[in-house]
Amino acid sequence: MYYQIAKEKFNNLYANYKSQDIYVLGIESSCDETSIAVVKNGREVLSNVIASQIDIHARFGGVVPEVASRNHLMCINNVLEESLKKANVTLDKINAIAVTYGAGLMGALMVGVNFAKSLAYALNIPLIKVNHIKGHISANYLACPELKPPFISLVVSGGHTAIVKVEDYVTNTLIGSTIDDAVGEAYDKVSKVLGLGYPGGPIVDKTAKLGQNNIVFVKKDILKNSFNFSYSGLKTAVINYLHNLKQHNIQPNVADVCASFQAEAVKALVDKSIKACKKFKLKTLAVAGGVAANSYLRQELINAGKLNEIDVKFPPLILCTDNAAMIACEGYNNLISGCGLSDLSLTATPNLNLKYEIKKLF
Ligand code: KG4
Ligand code: ZN
Repeated sequence: MYYQIAKEKFNNLYANYKSQDIYVLGIESSCDETSIAVVKNGREVLSNVIASQIDIHARFGGVVPEVASRNHLMCINNVLEESLKKANVTLDKINAIAVTYGAGLMGALMVGVNFAKSLAYALNIPLIKVNHIKGHISANYLACPELKPPFISLVVSGGHTAIVKVEDYVTNTLIGSTIDDAVGEAYDKVSKVLGLGYPGGPIVDKTAKLGQNNIVFVKKDILKNSFNFSYSGLKTAVINYLHNLKQHNIQPNVADVCASFQAEAVKALVDKSIKACKKFKLKTLAVAGGVAANSYLRQELINAGKLNEIDVKFPPLILCTDNAAMIACEGYNNLISGCGLSDLSLTATPNLNLKYEIKKLF
């Protein structure tokens, strides 16, 4: 019964979205941020409440999945309340619920998915399933409402490193991805071995500003002629370099290690995403994911964009980290494309990969 009504409402919204305001409630709980947002007409963020667990996990040096799920459970009701209050709307105003169902941590995702299912059922409104990574790409539509596909997106997060051709609001083509570690993962690992703390990305970014790029970690990019990436070799080279110094009782210059690692990590991202824009004759590059917050990557891409007449877009920092506004936006984009409607059998899908939902080119 629920699904019949939800489907009817979904079809109605799909048919009339140009002539009526649509309020989507987004829910995100894939990792260590509990977030709920209200987004109007897919582009106007009315609220975007993010309860971060970073402080809780920092003392363990990384996210502890069981601790993450428990904290999502503890705060999700309050996050909803605050989000509605900030948006100045009540639940009866919400037309659809969009929720991250993967990729992410099983227990953490389950909290958001079950919360979303209960709300959708209680309110008798459509439930829209959202791929977290596609949500990150959608953050660019919030930052830049006039942005329209097609464009190239560089996806750089803790779990993904990929170049994607965004064909339309629901179809993406994978052009290249990492063959081993993700770039954010490499940042976190390097920070850990340097004893700088968690999450590593922002700390390495900051520390690199104090150093020089004067250490060569990887002599040759074996994937130079492809759109794929590899960060495991670079990460291991940094670890070996530090071990070697330790054996000789030499203190590393931490800032130089950060600057040299970062220069190498970012170079591949910049070179390959610009090359992809040229190959597919697209003039817009939209960067997405947690690592899109990196100041050096932003600077290098802006410079390369200017040189190659490519318009490089980044979401503001608050939309680079995990947040529910991007999930609501992606949910809306699905809705206006007639896609993404889910029934109550929706389950958390930890390994939901770009490859599951993205057409593969090569
Ligand atoms: O997108 P995200 O919040 O989580 C995933 O969906 O994976 O990305 C988190 C990643 C972490 O690896 C974090 O260290 C990295 O993004 N990150 C950064 C910066 N801020 C966050 N990496 C480099 N520079 C930053 N400023
Ligand atoms: Zn993320």
